[in-house]
Parts: sequence; C-alpha cells; structure tokens
Amino acid sequence: MNSPFIFGKVATGTSFINRKEEIKRLSDNFQNQLNSILISPRRWGKSSLVKQTAYEVSKKNPGIRFCFLDFFRIRSEEEFYQKFAAEIIKSTSTKFEEWIADAKDFLGRVSPNITFGTDPVNDFQIGFNLSSRNFNAEDILNLPEKIADKKNLNIVVCLDEFQNIGNFSEPLAFQKLLRSVWQYHQKTGYCLYGSKRHMMMELFENSSMPFYKFGDVMFLQKIAREHFVDFIVKSFSETEKSIEVDIAEKITQHVDLHPYFVQQLAHVTWTNTTGKATEEIVDHSVNEMIDHNSMLYRQIVNGLSETQLNLLIAISKGETNLNAAGVLQKFALGTSGNVTKMKRTLQEKEIIDLSNGNITFQDPVFRLWILRMF
Ligand SMILES: Nc1ncnc2c1ncn2[C@@H]1O[C@H](COP(=O)(O)OP(=O)(O)O)[C@@H](O)[C@H]1O
Ligand SMILES: [Mg+2]
Repeated sequence: MNSPFIFGKVATGTSFINRKEEIKRLSDNFQNQLNSILISPRRWGKSSLVKQTAYEVSKKNPGIRFCFLDFFRIRSEEEFYQKFAAEIIKSTSTKFEEWIADAKDFLGRVSPNITFGTDPVNDFQIGFNLSSRNFNAEDILNLPEKIADKKNLNIVVCLDEFQNIGNFSEPLAFQKLLRSVWQYHQKTGYCLYGSKRHMMMELFENSSMPFYKFGDVMFLQKIAREHFVDFIVKSFSETEKSIEVDIAEKITQHVDLHPYFVQQLAHVTWTNTTGKATEEIVDHSVNEMIDHNSMLYRQIVNGLSETQLNLLIAISKGETNLNAAGVLQKFALGTSGNVTKMKRTLQEKEIIDLSNGNITFQDPVFRLWILRMF
C-alpha cells in the first residue's frame, strides 16, 4: 500500500486539506478578475492552494482559463516574454491548429519565432528578438486581454515565486511596465504569489513601488490543527492502519503545524507503523527526520557566525524578548543593535521568519536539531 501522505509536491484533490475560507476568497477574486497577492513562507501551501482553487473554479466555470508561470524558472525579461506568450496561448487554445493561428493572429506584429518539441500540442516555444524594431513588449503583455476579448473568455494569470522579479536586470523598470499595462485589463486577473515575505512586502506594500495596491493581499496561515488531525486519522484508517487523535496531534505539535513537515512526519510515522501508531513510533520518526537532515543542518551552521548561532539557540529555546539585557548576556548575543541586524540576515538566509513580531524557524526540524545539539 502506498503512503497517503505527500510532501514536496503540490497537494490537490483528495490530498488537499481544507483551506475553505482561502479558496472562497481567492475564487471570488478569480471570478471577478480581481488581482490577488498571496504571501507565506515556503512550503506552507501557496502553490497547492492556487492550483486547487483554479481547479475548482474552472470546473464550475469553463469560461475562465488559468495560466501558470513560475518565476523560479525565469531568469530574464526575455525569457519571461517567451514563456508568458507560450503559456497564455496554450491555456486558451485546445488544438494545435488553433494555437498556431493564435500565435500568428495575436503576435504577428512582433514576429515570433516558433519551435516545436516532441509533442507539438503541448510542447512548443515562442521566441522573440527583443532587439528587433518590431518588438513591442506591450503587445506581449496585452496578449491575455486580447485573446480573452476575442474568444470571450476570462483569464487568470498565476505567477509563482513572483519576488524573483527582483533578480532581473532592471527590476523597477520592468515592474513599472507590467503594472502600467496590466492595470487596464478587464478580462484578465492576476494572482501573484511568493515565499520571501520581506521581498513580497517590499514589492506590494511599499507605496513607492509600482505594484503597490495592485490587488487583494493575503497572508496565508497554517492549516488549522483539527483539519490536519482529521486528515491524518482518516488517511491511516483508509490504508489499513490506525492512529488515535492524541497521537496525530503529537505529530502536528512536533513540527509546529508546518504543512510540509506535518505531511512528512505523518509519512515517516505511517511507514514505521504496522497496525497502530504509538507515541514511541512518532518520537522515533522525529529522530529519524532529524538524523536524516543533520548533514544539511551542519552545513547551515557552518555558514553562520558564532553569535548568529547563539541567536538561533536562544530562539529555539523559546526566548522571545531577544533584546532584553538578560537574554543578550545569557546567550552572548552582543548588543541589541547587533541582534536586530542578525534577525534581518537570518531572515534573508531563509532560516527564520519574522511576522507580527513573532520569530519562528522556517524549518521546524532544524529547530529540533539545534535543541538536540546545543
Ligand atoms: N492544503 C493542503 N493540504 C495538504 N497538504 C498541504 C496543503 N498545503 C500544503 N501542504 C503540504 O505542504 C507542501 C508544500 O506545499 P506547496 O503548495 O508547495 O507550498 P508553497 O507553494 O507555499 O511552497 C505540500 O507538498 C504538502 O505536503
Ligand atoms: Mg510554491
């Protein structure tokens, strides 16, 4: 029997847990062409939520088409135009002949250069010569709106890991251009999401940035404990094993309710269980996860200064008032200004997450490892 738990892949369908309110809010936005901005640390469930919502909306409403692009895989403006055009055309035409015609119709002016892969229906690329006199970026950026208009559709363009736009060569000019074109779109909605909270906040909450007030900003929270516990209990029983509610709760507690790690710990516990899960099996599974990652954690710690490590130790022990004189002294943290600087660095390194004045480890298993080691 296969494990009912998944991690590291987008969770949709029967593996998707709850998030009813978030789905409602996002689908309202999608159905009304309102732009959405979704922010959370990595592996909390943004990609899964957007995919699941898109699935539900398009099932009810075939006139709404979804187009997905991941900025993680896009390194330059040029690459963006190519992938953007290809994905928009793919998501709005069903047949090979149709998209060839669309590419000609809608992009003729910018002289696209089309190449095919092994499967011409799904696998084709569109290239542009950006230095050509005919190239006009606005034509590409207007593509969804033009197609939506002509085909009487609505389009939702979903851009994952959007903060990576900051790595382009002229990020500000590019953002200005996107915003200036997209703000006039009526039949197209945009869903922009990303994991680096501080970078996303800078893009969307800073009044001097082009994307300020572009749409509905949502900060994704963790999944409520009871939904996760129900899911674990049900998944065990559907696979001829069992786990009691309080043991399933222990699983969620060990990893601080982090969606990815709850799934992973549930998976390891499930694998280690024949029959009925016990607290000992869960504890053993936690240790297995810590051991499994310890090389990685050693590497992370090797890249830190002594004081940065001290700060992590203080956080892992639950210290909240890190600037207090007693805490500075007890953990040898230096000055209070130093602590503030280190918090920023550790956030940029994606080790900790700062939100509403709370400091948490992005990886709850790393915290457990630190507690074990120091
Ligand atoms: N709603 C959900 N139901 C079940 N598992 C989830 C859910 N959201 C997230 N997860 C778990 O977290 C992991 C990471 O989710 P993902 O959507 O890739 O996060 P993000 O895009 O924020 O990095 C998934 O592989 C899954 O294990
Ligand atoms: Mg993601």
